[in-house]
Amino acid sequence: MTDDRRSPSFVAALDARQRAMLAEMGVRVWTPRPAAMPSAPATAPAHPAPPAPAVPAAAFVEPRAPAPPRVVPIARDAGPAPAVAPRPSSAPAATSAELSVRPAGVDQMDWTQLREAVAGCRACGLCRSRNNTVFGVGEVSADWLVVGEAPGENEDRQGEPFVGAAGQLLDRMLHAVGRSRHGQGAQGAYIANVLKCRPPANRNPQPQEMAQCEPFLVRQVELLRPRLILAMGRFAVQSLLDSTEPIGRLRGRVHRYHDVPVIVTYHPAYLLRNPIDKRKAWADLCLAMETTGQ
Ligand code: URA
Repeated sequence: MTDDRRSPSFVAALDARQRAMLAEMGVRVWTPRPAAMPSAPATAPAHPAPPAPAVPAAAFVEPRAPAPPRVVPIARDAGPAPAVAPRPSSAPAATSAELSVRPAGVDQMDWTQLREAVAGCRACGLCRSRNNTVFGVGEVSADWLVVGEAPGENEDRQGEPFVGAAGQLLDRMLHAVGRSRHGQGAQGAYIANVLKCRPPANRNPQPQEMAQCEPFLVRQVELLRPRLILAMGRFAVQSLLDSTEPIGRLRGRVHRYHDVPVIVTYHPAYLLRNPIDKRKAWADLCLAMETTGQ
């Protein structure tokens, strides 16, 4: 949780839904204690009274209001995304001799073909240490696409993106804007990563790994045709916007990826370490909602 100590007028201007969104993301709204009715002292005090102590922020977190239903159906050709079928972790890892080129024709694949191509990919060394590929999760009708970095340990084990602590925060952030990883259309957010395999010990993705994996993400965007992409963290930004600018310099405006609006925001794992920036992430989500007119 982080406190948001803004001016009383800012706080007063928040409606119930905005307060609920902030609470969902763990941003506490601090509200100053209402001024006590002054009672005229008979005589002037010798010393002015000390300022009233701030009321504990937790006391001012309002109960979460349910997000109003918003249904904006988007026409899509594809059917529901097939379920993840994780490879048993006992399956043998590939040796370096087994590295091969990525399957051809990724740019023509449908969802099923693409998922199979990712599952069988041996195009970089990450296939040696992975337990499962992590294709993505969500409904293909979802009109937001969230792009993260790479699977971590839990994701590698379960074959689904963002299932650890960062994923729980991501789910709360999505809930705060009336969306979820299982929602359809305007209630949904498809979640995918730049890399589909876990880098050993969660090290940073390497350029050649990103290059090998990029066509898969490109095809996911083409098939999904999202109304908006939320790029979370520097590797999503590098891949989608081809930029190494810091997140702080890229957020707050609308970028484009193949004509799709892109909003840049902090990675949830960063927000867990730097909760003070949750309010900036909230502003990014507000910009995303504005951009899609929701
Ligand atoms: N971080 C990511 O970027 N992606 C995941 O799937 C999990 C953690």
